[in-house]
Amino acid sequence: MSAKIYYDSDANLDLLKDKTIVFLGFGNQGAAQAQNLRDSGIPNEKIVVANRPDHYAEDAKSKGFNVEHDFAKAAKQADIIFLLIPDQVQPRVFNNEIAPNLKDDACIVVASGYNVFYKLLNFKPSQDIVMVAPRMIGSSVRSLYVKGKGFPCFVSSEQDGTGKALELALALSRAIGATKAGAIASSAREETAMDLFAEQALWPNIIMLFREAFSVLKEAGCSDEALCYEMWMSKEPAEIFERAAEDGFIRQLKHHSTVSQYGQLNGALNLDGSAARAHFKDILYNQVLNAKFQQEFSKIEDDLEKEGDANPLEILYQKSEASELGQAEKRVRARLAGLLAQ
Ligand code: NAI
Repeated sequence: MSAKIYYDSDANLDLLKDKTIVFLGFGNQGAAQAQNLRDSGIPNEKIVVANRPDHYAEDAKSKGFNVEHDFAKAAKQADIIFLLIPDQVQPRVFNNEIAPNLKDDACIVVASGYNVFYKLLNFKPSQDIVMVAPRMIGSSVRSLYVKGKGFPCFVSSEQDGTGKALELALALSRAIGATKAGAIASSAREETAMDLFAEQALWPNIIMLFREAFSVLKEAGCSDEALCYEMWMSKEPAEIFERAAEDGFIRQLKHHSTVSQYGQLNGALNLDGSAARAHFKDILYNQVLNAKFQQEFSKIEDDLEKEGDANPLEILYQKSEASELGQAEKRVRARLAGLLAQ
């Protein structure tokens, strides 16, 4: 299955003419996307940053944006509204303060599929819901735009209330600089499935493999210092992934020694992936796509704002850092602070 890729030539910026565009949030993505959009020629007087009074609002003001603290007032003006506050606060803020005040034909833009896929936001059927989801952190969304380069981005129309949802999504993608290198046609379902799968299946396994590998090698007499450097502090894994993005996931191995290439290719081919595949399918279907995780997560969301042991994330950190790997790294970092600072 190959996806359609949209370029600048597929997008018409004229569709944004005379539209009032509201950015709800001026954080990682909000600050980057609002500045890119303005630099693409959208007049500053047509852009409103809706932000509670905090340092993000001050940042927006210092960059010359019109800041509105009253979300209802901002929503009433919006022809297009980007939801760029954290995913877990979007349902509360959007459903209580934004949705009741939005125009019937407003276009709502999300940068992540989560709340749309799990149907946590109250939209009207007449509204356009689109996803413009950069695959980069906000600072890169901005710096690549400033350098005249594009960045990877997923785009989709999730609800076509006006008949123009996809065209608007493409115009907005172009305005934030996302169609320059090609924006990939996707969906909230696909984006959410891949994102949560990576977070709940792939990376937990990688963390587990590092943890177990550390213990086995330590038991065989390797020192904490050598292990930490060998496994990640040298930044070798980061370089490998950079090469994988540039040269290819498998072809990057050409940069390794012959012994390493042989060991890695032969070792991976000899591993039976069926248990991992079954585990991955279980997570994907019985935890992510069936909303089990989302329902459990929404029960603890409020606790994530709490301090210390009342915060479940804090407990997870404490347990994870109590592992052999976690304790060893702490000691190594304290001993080698000078070396690490270089
Ligand atoms: P962020 O964490 O940087 O958001 C900060 C902004 O949210 C600030 O403007 C702050 O005033 C506002 N905010 C925070 N809590 C609030 C509350 N309780 N009520 C009202 N406003 C509140 O958000 P980020 O990381 O930019 O994420 C925004 C969206 O972009 C999310 O949907 C996220 O999944 C998506 N995204 C984020 C990426 C990233 O680089 N972090 C990458 C791609 C997509």
